Amino acid sequence: MSRLVIAVDGPSASGKGTLARRLANHFGLPHLDTGLLYRAVGWRALRTGESPAEVAGKLGPADLTDADLRSDEAGQQASKVAAIPEVRANLLKFQKEFSSRPTGAVLDGRDIGTVICPDAPVKLFVTASTEARADRRYRELRARGVDTIRPRVLAEMAERDRRDSERAAAPLKAAPDAWLLDTSDMDADAAFAAALAFIERKGFRTAGP
Ligand code: CDP
Repeated sequence: MSRLVIAVDGPSASGKGTLARRLANHFGLPHLDTGLLYRAVGWRALRTGESPAEVAGKLGPADLTDADLRSDEAGQQASKVAAIPEVRANLLKFQKEFSSRPTGAVLDGRDIGTVICPDAPVKLFVTASTEARADRRYRELRARGVDTIRPRVLAEMAERDRRDSERAAAPLKAAPDAWLLDTSDMDADAAFAAALAFIERKGFRTAGP
């Protein structure tokens, strides 16, 4: 059986992050949320005035801890710097090395199945309707105490998805061999169960009892 590398891609609030974390936990694999890298680059470049490409070349663990990285503003900033080819190039080695760990790995993002791990034995492309995703993101923000309104959440999400899909450098798209999982009518448990069944059909199982 080959090393288990799970590539999880999809648009914002599709449920890919939650799914990736749960799969990593289930299979005992390290997990990398690659969106956090782009958020950290965008956020630091915005605050310090350094060039995004330069920041991407020297990103360290201390850049990844700021609670504001989860904000919508950091998300917008991330998607702007993510369109710069030098930024992507400077983040490539770290992501490739992470995915090459002997243990296997789970990575989630926008270009994992297409660019970072084109040979991953398991590729999932997680989608959901725009309405379902806007509802989720709205509830998530409100739960974190962010004062916002749903139409604004929807507009910002649509803007970011458009930028991510239309950019020339590694646009958001499903790899030809990715399995499409539409989570519009699924909660996190149902999405996990569906993904797990798919991975087990491919012959991967946990070593546990
Ligand atoms: O959590 P959410 O899906 O909203 O966003 P994220 O995964 O944290 O990603 C933030 C932004 O980083 C995205 O809108 C993309 O522009 C960019 N990104 C990327 O270009 N490539 C990746 N592998 C991951 C994120």
